[in-house]
Amino acid sequence: MNHQIATNEIKNPIERLLIFAIALLLAIVLATMTIRQFQVADPYVKSVLSLTGDQFQGSAIFQMNCAGCHISVGETQVGPNLHRVSERKSEFELIRQVTSGRTPPMPQFQPSPQEMADLLKYLQQI
Ligand code: HEC
Repeated sequence: MNHQIATNEIKNPIERLLIFAIALLLAIVLATMTIRQFQVADPYVKSVLSLTGDQFQGSAIFQMNCAGCHISVGETQVGPNLHRVSERKSEFELIRQVTSGRTPPMPQFQPSPQEMADLLKYLQQI
């Protein structure tokens, strides 16, 4: 009975649309927050994000482990250019890219949390 009354009250299609839009927005915000919470709860990610990275250290790590694929040597370049990559990918996505090995031929790396924090700092500068 109550249900009937409630739906009848929202007759105006614009009002209905507005309510739908608000509900959708709320759902998106909630989902984003939940995902973020879930990501940050990962102990490795948590410790990486709690550390202060050193971009120079990160640069050295990059030269040794990553530049071979991510910097073009003559005509060939295996991996994509990482210029402004931090604008395309979140910190979590960058960490996952390096540690997951989910996109071969890029190998799975296992940097210590400090090394990962340094790399992250470096990736945010290029
Ligand atoms: C063997 C070659 C290789 C090495 C070594 C390598 N990568 Fe990659 N990387 C790739 C390839 C190929 C991709 C594209 C993967 C895809 O999305 O399909 C990639 C993608 C990425 C991306 C995502 C780029 C974007 O535009 O979304 C990041 C960030 C990245 N690599 C960082 C690194 C870092 C940091 C290292 C060193 C720790 C590293 N890579 C070492 C080959 C490599």
